[in-house]
Amino acid sequence: MIYLDNAATSWPKPDEVIRAMTDVLERAGGNPGRSGHRLSIAAARVIYEVREELAGFFGISDPLRVVFTGNATHALNLVIRGLLRPGDRVVVSSMEHNAVMRPLRHLERRGVRITVVPCYADGTLDLTGLEKALSEPARLVVLVHASNVTGTIMPLGEAARLAHGAGALLCVDAAQTAGALPISVAELGVDFLAFTGHKEMLGPPGIGGLVIADGVDVSACEPLIFGGTGSRSESEEQPEFLPDRFESGTPNLAGIAALGAGVRWIKEHGIAELRDHIMMVTHTLIEGLSVIPGVRVYGPPDAGSRVGIVSFTVEGRHVSEIGLRLDEEYGVLARVGLHCAPAAHRTIGSFPGGTVRLSPGVFTNAEEIRRALEAVERVVRG
Ligand code: ALA
Repeated sequence: MIYLDNAATSWPKPDEVIRAMTDVLERAGGNPGRSGHRLSIAAARVIYEVREELAGFFGISDPLRVVFTGNATHALNLVIRGLLRPGDRVVVSSMEHNAVMRPLRHLERRGVRITVVPCYADGTLDLTGLEKALSEPARLVVLVHASNVTGTIMPLGEAARLAHGAGALLCVDAAQTAGALPISVAELGVDFLAFTGHKEMLGPPGIGGLVIADGVDVSACEPLIFGGTGSRSESEEQPEFLPDRFESGTPNLAGIAALGAGVRWIKEHGIAELRDHIMMVTHTLIEGLSVIPGVRVYGPPDAGSRVGIVSFTVEGRHVSEIGLRLDEEYGVLARVGLHCAPAAHRTIGSFPGGTVRLSPGVFTNAEEIRRALEAVERVVRG
């Protein structure tokens, strides 16, 4: 089997990540922040340590500004639905995932105005278009850091400058980049960073988070859910302090511990080294696919301008047939279709048919890429 669907979820997971899940349940399986006994305190300590790890990893100084969520979609909903009110204007790119577009379309029916900035056919953001969209006031800019369809990396620094110039906050969907690219929220000027744990951060599904930049005032951001936090139990009002304002209910202890193990694994192996590896295998994929007759590769031509994602179509063929044959005949696992991102496919010209998406991961080796390319070539031939 050749697993090339790391953009959907990374696989395999490092042994350390799997061990961290069972280990925490065995040795620190109390309910964090709820009881005063040793298992509860041990669990709370594990969670705080992972918060600290993540704060350092994403370049903020206050670990309490790392809010755990179930995934990136949950974190994006928290910002989008928490901040936007009828009459507010929000600016997005034309490459956004439905994790952004669906909550926004829902709010649009309640009076939120959406401006979509066009991207080029390779997924690159038209910065002049963004500047124009921000020539009038906006409340929020939501931008994908790298497209889950083409892998195209967006210019966050420039986007932050333009957003702040218009008085808007910048919320970044880092589902495909957290763990894959070095990200400093402070250096980039990002206000909210939504991430998931199960993709490039190598953690399990069901854990993600929102990083809130130091100094960003969240008092106007309504919580998505309200409930018990273990703090201020005498009050029926939601606490206003972070992270409790946005973290109600018993947290995903095993997921958080394993996410911490994923981050430590990335740090030990070096994010720059892992990125070099991904660029190398992605480059080979782009080059190899581009020379197969009838194959059209989407996204920027150079691997340095994208994360490890390569989408392609084959002239006259359905993507589902290609994906099925790759799996059944050659053991190559890909994701085909629209990837929950119809806007991105419209932008690159692959709507409604979609693309075949290959996404290598940190464990993908050059031999697997060679065999995958051979498999694509055979499937394309007939
Ligand atoms: N959004 C994920 C993907 O692109 C699940 O496959």
